[in-house]
Amino acid sequence: MKIREATIDDAENIRNVYLQAFDDSEAQMVSDFAVNLLKENHPVKIISLVAIENKEIVGHIAFSPVFLESTNENFGYILAPLAVSPEFQKNEIGSSLVKFGLDIISKLGSIIVFVYGDTQYYSRFGFKTGLASNFEPPYALQLPEGWHALKLNSGVSPEGGKIICVDSLSDPDLW
Ligand SMILES: CC(C)(COP(=O)(O)OP(=O)(O)OC[C@H]1O[C@@H](n2cnc3c(N)ncnc32)[C@H](O)[C@@H]1OP(=O)(O)O)[C@@H](O)C(=O)NCCC(=O)NCCS
Repeated sequence: MKIREATIDDAENIRNVYLQAFDDSEAQMVSDFAVNLLKENHPVKIISLVAIENKEIVGHIAFSPVFLESTNENFGYILAPLAVSPEFQKNEIGSSLVKFGLDIISKLGSIIVFVYGDTQYYSRFGFKTGLASNFEPPYALQLPEGWHALKLNSGVSPEGGKIICVDSLSDPDLW
């Protein structure tokens, strides 16, 4: 399995991973989100990675920058979305994508990474609800217990506040 940065040419293959991995109720919205992020031009780097098995895209992850609403300071990233094609799941592809992305973000010097998802899955990477609770997400969460954060670097970070995100994620239905 190989991981590389996604390009715009990967858009339809990435879309297919999400259409397969998510339930019908969410598949269209999440696949649109993944493709929108790939196309979004933002001054702060949006990270989009694909996992390749036998030349086929079997997994995708994206991380986009977050900003403190009060100062517009970019102090971290948010992990979303993530999917692995069903027939390739439980082979550590999802974990490898998460770790690969966190490594890139750590080297960029970014301090905090957020994720809105399942504690059982994301706690294995060190994501915790305690740190996240100091930061208000852009929209009210349907499942507040899914709001997690991970501190990557020892630099000074804001102690808390409301965060805002890139345009592709600025849609309450995605929260
Ligand atoms: C979540 C997902 C990306 C994991 O990919 P993967 O390549 O199978 O992940 P890994 O092989 O690294 O890890 C598999 C482990 O994750 C667990 N897992 C998978 N989905 C999970 C979920 N929604 N909640 C909790 N645990 C989950 C598996 O049970 C397995 O556990 P184990 O290690 O104890 O056996 C994949 O299952 C997927 O695409 N699911 C559908 C889309 C989705 O839910 N995306 C995440 C949104 S937060």
